[in-house]
Amino acid sequence: MTNKEHILVSVAWPYANADIHVGNVTGSYLPADIYARYHRLKGNHVLMVSGSDSHGTPVTVKAEELGQTIQEVFDYYHDRFLRIFEGLGLSYDLFTHTNTENHFQVAQDMFLALLNNGFLYKKVTEQMYSPTAGKFLPDRYIEGICPVCGYERARGDQCDNCNTLFESAAQLINPRSKTDDSELELRETEHFFIDLPKLAKTGLERWIQNEKEHWRPHVLKFTRNWIMDEGLIGRAITRDISGWGIPVPVKEYEHKTLYVWFEAVIGYLSAAIEWAHNQGQPEAWKKWWQDPDARSVYFIGKDNIPFHTIIWPAQLLGVGSLYSDDGHALNLPYDVPANEFMNMEGRKISGSMNWGVWIVDALERHDPDPLRYYLTAVMPETRDSDWSWDGYVTRNNTELVANWGNLANRVLNMIQKYFDGVVPNPGPLTDSDKALLEAIDDGFVKIGELYDGCKFRAALQETMRLSTLINQYLDETSPWKAAKTDLAAAGHALNITLQAISGLKILFAPVLPFTCQRLHEMLGEEGRIFGGQEIVTYEEKTRSHRAMTYNPTGAVGSWSRPEIPAGRQLPKPKPLFKKLDPSVVEEELARLG
Ligand code: MF3
Ligand code: ZN
Repeated sequence: MTNKEHILVSVAWPYANADIHVGNVTGSYLPADIYARYHRLKGNHVLMVSGSDSHGTPVTVKAEELGQTIQEVFDYYHDRFLRIFEGLGLSYDLFTHTNTENHFQVAQDMFLALLNNGFLYKKVTEQMYSPTAGKFLPDRYIEGICPVCGYERARGDQCDNCNTLFESAAQLINPRSKTDDSELELRETEHFFIDLPKLAKTGLERWIQNEKEHWRPHVLKFTRNWIMDEGLIGRAITRDISGWGIPVPVKEYEHKTLYVWFEAVIGYLSAAIEWAHNQGQPEAWKKWWQDPDARSVYFIGKDNIPFHTIIWPAQLLGVGSLYSDDGHALNLPYDVPANEFMNMEGRKISGSMNWGVWIVDALERHDPDPLRYYLTAVMPETRDSDWSWDGYVTRNNTELVANWGNLANRVLNMIQKYFDGVVPNPGPLTDSDKALLEAIDDGFVKIGELYDGCKFRAALQETMRLSTLINQYLDETSPWKAAKTDLAAAGHALNITLQAISGLKILFAPVLPFTCQRLHEMLGEEGRIFGGQEIVTYEEKTRSHRAMTYNPTGAVGSWSRPEIPAGRQLPKPKPLFKKLDPSVVEEELARLG
């Protein structure tokens, strides 16, 4: 028996059609990484998976715009994602993509299981056909007026203004082709539908009504309303696209493909299977998917909620005993802590208007930890939030540099100056010493609960409050003054402060992995708090692909305050953070628009 948990960290799959911006990072990838790192420190078995969403019209539209092949567009963005994620320290156990043999297989198997279990049906529908293009148009190629909110540029699949999902683009008022603005006509075509009403009765409704106190209120409300208000209706899960995407594995339908949303979410499962295969332990994924005690947590943006809280659970329920040889069904989501959106200087982030902060670009001028820090401090956990360059520079200078960074550097420098870098002896602990160390140790409980509850802003705030507390202790004991008259007293205060800092190094580490690792070394500790990431090329039978893996080698961190022994020789310290000149704000603002 072990009390270590299995935690599946499922992260949104970015379409391989556009660069990643701060909104994407704070919306899902960064919270997922913080959560994964926290649980690794707790000693839990974490599996963090995602990949590029290779299919779907976002990618094909982009290729058409650029006059490139879809493969070229896909390769270009997928490779950029790998480099960006490495640069930001996102510790995926596997970041793959959906254009792998393994994913095709799993997606087609799930489709067939749903079909055999009676949860799919065929239906002839009328779809938008473009006489000028000579083909059925995917919903994303169609634009029109939203029948719900009146937004003029609603897409055929979803209104970006009110988040309504459309069963068909024909629901739009005055639908037109996005490509050439031509008028469209309705023509008949046959598709497979997933029978959500039947799945609702087979357990989905019960699951959604089950106790979900730990869910974010906005996610729960959205999910329950979706079922009550709209009611569950069958949804088409195949499309009239050929040549890119996953063929429907049914005779005479192979020229159609699985709808990208149907198969992309399957990536959470197929990536776990791929990871296990790469480990040389093909069964290892089952610990996260079949053991009912395992928790799976899905980090996504709010526009993806229904796909993760209703349709994906329906798919998982519907495949029945597929992938559950021991009689356990596949685990349904434990939590879906969807984030809201981040705006940019008060306006919606927009690629076409160059209104945003693109990570590829930001990483050339800024270190990853200050970016991670700010993105956590203003994470849109309960409402939309805003990136402002002024906020970034201010928080970097007043919180990271002046509060936390200076604390660590002052103490390490004083130990160099007064004790030749050797950790001084502590004397007997006074009440205020004990109070300080207790506050830090209590932080492991309190802040741990905040990380576990996906309250990352509060976790960071509370950790910074402890940094302020240590600063106060340092001011009160003033070892730089004491050093002149009572070296032992100075040594005592520095020792206690160093122990407190050693605790904060771990408490901050999920958010600030790079600088905490540097501090770890400056505290004379061995190994790496976490492992690292590697970009590797995998071979399948007929394809090879690039992916990122987390490598836990040499990871030594654990969720408690490491004691730094007196007498240890410390290396020469270097500042953890750089002060930013206020002119950075002007420079960065000038890049916008
Ligand atoms: N690529 C889609 C998006 O960016 C879907 C992401 S999550 C998935 O919105 F699991 F469904 F793929
Ligand atoms: Zn709308």
